[in-house]
Amino acid sequence: MTLGKKRILCVAGTRPEAIKMAPVILALREAPWAEVRVLATAQHRQMLDQVMQVFGISPDIDLDIMRPNQSLPELTARLLAELDTVLASEQPDVVLVQGDTTTVMATAMAAFYRRIDVGHVEAGLRTGDLQNPFPEEMNRVVAGRLSRWHFAPTEGSRQNLLREGFDPTAIHVTGNTVIDALKNVVARDLPRPEGIDPGKRLVLVTAHRRENFGEPFREVCRAVREIADRHEDINILYPVHPNPNVHDVAHATLGDHPRIRLCSPLDYLPFVSAMKHADLVLTDSGGVQEEAPALAKPVLVMRRETERPEAVAEGVVKLVGTDFDSIVGEADRLLRDPDAYRAMAKGVSPYGDGLAASRILSILSADLLDR
Ligand code: UD1
Ligand code: UDP
Repeated sequence: MTLGKKRILCVAGTRPEAIKMAPVILALREAPWAEVRVLATAQHRQMLDQVMQVFGISPDIDLDIMRPNQSLPELTARLLAELDTVLASEQPDVVLVQGDTTTVMATAMAAFYRRIDVGHVEAGLRTGDLQNPFPEEMNRVVAGRLSRWHFAPTEGSRQNLLREGFDPTAIHVTGNTVIDALKNVVARDLPRPEGIDPGKRLVLVTAHRRENFGEPFREVCRAVREIADRHEDINILYPVHPNPNVHDVAHATLGDHPRIRLCSPLDYLPFVSAMKHADLVLTDSGGVQEEAPALAKPVLVMRRETERPEAVAEGVVKLVGTDFDSIVGEADRLLRDPDAYRAMAKGVSPYGDGLAASRILSILSADLLDR
């Protein structure tokens, strides 16, 4: 048994990392053996800050990395240089990263160069296609290769890692911390989404994937408009991602429609409330694919591949790609056919039970305090 506390540095750069790392940070704060430090790279600025506030977390270190319309090479280069300086001064025993963003890949590399152990939360997700999602599939492959602990959300993600030859004793199926975060928030008093006619059905839309930029994303927007045109009894709420490649096209294509409400990214509480009130969710988001099924909402995923096949296998998420006819056709079917709708609104949660963070802590403490 080691006498001193273990220094655990939790890193988050973007909105989804903060949401999914928050339960781990909150649990570590309560652990007598851990001294937790929080590093925000702020690869996202406003969207990261929102989430940190919701969970009452203020970063100990903030790199303030984000620049408008940042490119992947410049983002990666700045992250690597700044992270190395922080790791040199912080000297953590363990660095925890979550997910598949550029922050995660760069942090795993920076820790590797300093010979610091990395724990990867949400490990083992794979499509097997480095172009889809881009660049996230590469980010998680690199982060996985450099990690000592793989906290896999599902048995399927564990199997992906085993196929790649990872040591089975380093892989732990914990569930996804997104369900811990969701349970924390759903238990609170959630405001109704603003500016939405309660007499109409609600379709919630999000989209931001880089591999869809350009024509595929314009097609997605045309499909969303067509769905609104075909169904007079629906409102569409679409919190638009601030990336200019998304923001400008969404506003140009959809901004003038009387039943499509475009708004800035919602804070996590109002967004969860919007999911709860939604009848149907159209998205290319990773996190939303995990949350909406837990809230019994059918999800159409506007991507060519998903690294989250479990909910598809359960029949509560459907992969529709970015093709106009496919998106409109599937949305039409669900909005017109109550049996088809009920079959997808079952409320299954293949990604976790809300106890992932406590499992991660048990594994870390068992390994670290044994040394
Ligand atoms: C990033 C992640 C992606 C993740 C997504 C979650 C990478 C390469 N991409 O994509 O995996 O799914 O976050 O949302 O790591 N911006 C703001 N304010 C913000 C956030 C973003 O203005 O709070 C704008 C800036 O112009 C910024 C741009 O969006 O340069 C892109 O941000 P970036 O983090 O590079 O990529 P995302 O598309 O957000
Ligand atoms: N989210 C949010 N406000 C929004 C849209 C999404 O708080 O306006 C939350 C959502 O509940 C989920 C996370 O952000 O937990 C997903 O982030 P995003 O779609 O940006 O990234 P991804 O999960 O695709 O990496």
